[in-house]
Amino acid sequence: MYYIYMLNKKLLKIDQENAFSTASAYVKEYKQAHPEKDVISLGIGDVSKPIVAPVIAAMHKAVDDLADMKTFSGYGNYYGIDELRQTIVDNDYRGLGISKEEVYVSDGTKTDSTNLLELFDINDKILLGNPTYPIYRNGAFALGREVYYTDCDSNYKMIVPNEHYDIIYICSPSNPIGIAYTYDDLQKWIDYALKEKAVIIYDNVYSCFITSEDVPKSIYEISGSKNCCIELNSFSKRASFTGLRCSYFVLPKEIDDKLFKERTINRFNGASYVAQKGAVATYLPESKILLEANLKAYKDNIKYLKDSFIKMGFEVVGGDDSPYIWVKIKENIKSFDYFKLLLNEISVVVVPGAIFGQSGDDHFRVSGLGSIENSKEAVKRIMRYYEEKN
Ligand SMILES: Cc1ncc(COP(=O)(O)O)c(C=O)c1O
Repeated sequence: MYYIYMLNKKLLKIDQENAFSTASAYVKEYKQAHPEKDVISLGIGDVSKPIVAPVIAAMHKAVDDLADMKTFSGYGNYYGIDELRQTIVDNDYRGLGISKEEVYVSDGTKTDSTNLLELFDINDKILLGNPTYPIYRNGAFALGREVYYTDCDSNYKMIVPNEHYDIIYICSPSNPIGIAYTYDDLQKWIDYALKEKAVIIYDNVYSCFITSEDVPKSIYEISGSKNCCIELNSFSKRASFTGLRCSYFVLPKEIDDKLFKERTINRFNGASYVAQKGAVATYLPESKILLEANLKAYKDNIKYLKDSFIKMGFEVVGGDDSPYIWVKIKENIKSFDYFKLLLNEISVVVVPGAIFGQSGDDHFRVSGLGSIENSKEAVKRIMRYYEEKN
């Protein structure tokens, strides 16, 4: 390997064995070896609905803007175009005391979630749940950082530690577990953060799936949060921007009003103008109706899957405020072995829990972001597999 002593050795800590890419490569190989098999994925984190028509129309118009210097938009919008930042404040943070200057638009929460670490000291102690969305861990390694873990309690919520940490990642509604943190759960974390002078990076990309009344749509509904919480959100799941790319986060001025702006001018030239104009159009009344219908289809799908797995005798959590359920493996086998078993026996794909950390190795994740037809066929196959086995 090229001058190993020069390379970022933290990258070697990324667990390549238990990775999404390893599972995907295995599925690809299986499909090539068995072209006759109809493989159904209950694993997908991508959406299965296209971008809605009013958003597409707004983006066509945005492309035309770029064809004329009178309406052209170029360099300079490092934190996002004002129209989108204000629209986000008016819609997602109405009455919560957030200003447009505290909103930073970007090209995806995957990148934002660990790019934000550039605001903090290299030696700050980062705390993650176990299991966790693996990007927090691997993104931190890519930036040369170290991470620490806290386990989950019997309700699958991260346990508030007794020791000091500087940066805490909370994903709610959670990927992979599919549960959401209530006002009370989050108040405990905010109290901890205020006491320890820590910062919570709150990944809220699945907020559009929240239905429970005791779960906040934004962390800023909770007192004290503006002093210690950075909230991330994305248009990926709520408006099918997974390929288009547009996200935002709120960095309250109580935490920082200067350093990250300076950092961003030097590190990022802003999100795509066309994608941002599309994002503005997601808030149009006609878009909201269509997006609600898409969300309802995903919610119905995950409810069907949850009910079906429970009926088949699995222990299941999540799915009420999230497109994911977290299912305990009945057999005494590891999650990658179970993933291979379902693929080889019945051509159904689930996500092995080990991808999210070793404590997930007795679970698998199921997604409701696919189609209900596929879910029904997959459930039929799993049911038949267990009937034949018993
Ligand atoms: C918890 C979580 N955060 C962030 C992302 C990525 O979002 P984006 O598409 O905005 O990069 C995902 C994608 O699956 C996710 O599950």
